[in-house]
Amino acid sequence: MSARYEIVPGVYWVGVKDWERKIFDALIPLPQGTSYNAYLVVGEKGTALVDTVNPGFEEDLWRKISAVADPTTLDYVIMNHAEPDHAGALPWIVARAPKAKILLTEKGREMALKLYHLPLERMEVVRDGDSLDLGGKTLQFFEVPFVHWPETMFTFLSEDRILFPCDFFGAHTAKGFYASGVPDIEKLAKSYFGEIMMPYRRAAQRALAKALELKPTIIAPSHGPIWPDPTPILTWYGKWTAGDTEPKVLVAYVSMWGATEKLVQTAVNSLQAAGAEVTVYDLVRADLGALCAELVDSHALVFGAPTVLGKLHPLAAFVLDLIRALKPPLRFVLFLSSHGWAGGAARQVQEAVASLDAELLGLVDVPGCPGPQEEEQVRTLSQNLAQKVLH
Ligand code: FEO
Repeated sequence: MSARYEIVPGVYWVGVKDWERKIFDALIPLPQGTSYNAYLVVGEKGTALVDTVNPGFEEDLWRKISAVADPTTLDYVIMNHAEPDHAGALPWIVARAPKAKILLTEKGREMALKLYHLPLERMEVVRDGDSLDLGGKTLQFFEVPFVHWPETMFTFLSEDRILFPCDFFGAHTAKGFYASGVPDIEKLAKSYFGEIMMPYRRAAQRALAKALELKPTIIAPSHGPIWPDPTPILTWYGKWTAGDTEPKVLVAYVSMWGATEKLVQTAVNSLQAAGAEVTVYDLVRADLGALCAELVDSHALVFGAPTVLGKLHPLAAFVLDLIRALKPPLRFVLFLSSHGWAGGAARQVQEAVASLDAELLGLVDVPGCPGPQEEEQVRTLSQNLAQKVLH
């Protein structure tokens, strides 16, 4: 028999910890694994499972539910989000809990049909503001589209003021149960926000406003720890969704033979001498999750990469494309480059910066290795950038 993880009377964590998962979205490293949090709400008249788990963990979920109630008698499964890490176990659960109705948004039903081929008659669409009385436990449903898929919704347990927001307010870590047990939770939550929520910042602002309106006393997301005091995560999300930046510069670069690196190093020295906070990533070794976290509130980007085969170095092109897709609130960009006999990288960077809605403050493209004149040019541009960032 599994242990029971009671959050408040009648509400249980029945999720799983995935310590072995090393990467998410085939893109972002997971140094601490992740969790797929599911919750069981037991009322006097009915029992509801809020979200499920990643495929492969169905039996673990079933065991956790069994420690509290007979899972075959489940009345409802709430699908807040259709992505497989939360809804992928639905077919398994639905086949074994014969009377369970799946509650989801209209868009959620459409996606559940395509992704899981669930029986239509088992699904029941809920609308924004609908509620479900389980007997002393009332669940309310609120549509919050695009955090981060179109079908997403919040479930709110009104008697206990617990918000189940699925991905929103999440963090990739298998550590801890409550946020106080994860010392680096701000960094993890920020990295998660950068990768998952930042591209939909406006939708995230609306979802945050809804969360604040509900005044939850507990936030129970579907990744990472639970927040028995939600104040920190609500405060961070206020800043991150608004696109507020810090006076700091993210430096990301690739260098083949050291010429671009030399330009980057000159920029870093000048920025630091002027008092700007600088974080440097050599993209050959960089953790993309850490880079995502920095993008959330960096005011400027210094991007360094050479031309190779007539174009921006492929690794730099990949990262630049990722940055563009994540829509960070960067205000200024400085591009530093070098080439052997012909340039080409600059045009790609100019196009990318234009789509970022940031200002390209300067561009230095050196044939061969930088000499004193070019070094001076980088120093001047970096001092100018530092002034913009600090003031
Ligand atoms: Fe954790 Fe969007 O799935």
